[in-house]
Amino acid sequence: MTERLAPDAAGIARGAALLREGQLVAFATETVYGLGADATNPQAVAALFAVKGRPSFNPLIIHFHSSESAFRHVEPTPLAEKLGRAFWPGPLTLVLPRRPDTPIVPTAGAGLPTLAVRVPRHPAALALIQRADRPIAAPSANVSGRVSPTTADHVLEGLNGRIAAVIDSGPTSIGVESTVLDLSGKGPRLLRPGGLTAEVLRAFIGEFDLQVPKAGEAPRAPGALSTHYAPLLPVRLDAQDVAPNEALLAFGEPLPGAGLVFNLSDAEDVVEAAARLFAGLRYLDEEGRRLGLIGIAVMPVPASGLGLAIIDRLTRAATRCL
Ligand code: TXA
Ligand code: MG
Repeated sequence: MTERLAPDAAGIARGAALLREGQLVAFATETVYGLGADATNPQAVAALFAVKGRPSFNPLIIHFHSSESAFRHVEPTPLAEKLGRAFWPGPLTLVLPRRPDTPIVPTAGAGLPTLAVRVPRHPAALALIQRADRPIAAPSANVSGRVSPTTADHVLEGLNGRIAAVIDSGPTSIGVESTVLDLSGKGPRLLRPGGLTAEVLRAFIGEFDLQVPKAGEAPRAPGALSTHYAPLLPVRLDAQDVAPNEALLAFGEPLPGAGLVFNLSDAEDVVEAAARLFAGLRYLDEEGRRLGLIGIAVMPVPASGLGLAIIDRLTRAATRCL
């Protein structure tokens, strides 16, 4: 049985002790729930890949409680230091060259010369990482390829009995994962749109290469596999109409005639939509299958602000193979 811990002093202490023993502990960040492991413990990292069914070539994000501790394991550029000061703690992940002396096990970074590092903003995550006093590898706490969890119940649906504990801090606030920015090359490259919007980043660092892999192109972020976030029902994007045997993921006034509806945001607000996205996909998938529906139709979402991250996740939810 997986322990469900409260995000209080006792729960954090228990979670940190389990992490230090090499166990897997899920916890809320401001984006999604992460599945934590001690990134300096090879057995713990191996268990993390095994439990998620994650391919070993997909590197993990390493979480820290401060930018100083993060930058002890990677070589920061001046821009990385500026970004860390401006946006950490927060939904930004930076890819930087790993330091040769870091105790983070190479398998956590899939053997790459770079490491992805982030300082999350959630108080329970920060307290847990500080108390564990270790770099914490934490992918989203879902089985690889499936929808990311935004509540402790979502985590347990996929991983109950297979991880030591989950710290239940209620629903996460942002709802989509962190923005992944690669600073290890010539110019900054956006590898994954996420919780920190491209507009805010651009305003801060000027124009940069918005790297979004096109269909058929090898993904630049090793983990940006096309098939991801996949519900079991097929997903149809940019729906202009909907059939009675389809579920509808609506944005604004729902199209008429669906067999089942989940509205991301009545008010057409992308921030609200991001926070509800993964719960909505899970609901339509489960309830839609129970009702015998044949697929999920998705209304268009604007490609601005968090809309870019929403569209990225939905596009991958709609892709059935690489
Ligand atoms: O919001 C988040 O980032 C959540 C929470 C738990 O912090 N974590 C998360 O981790 O989304 P995960 O493992 O589901 O996604 C990590 C992404 C993958 O696309 C992976 O390929 C990329 O970061 N990544 C990790 N290390 C990298 C590296 N060295 N170079 C390029 N991409 C990397
Ligand atoms: Mg993930």
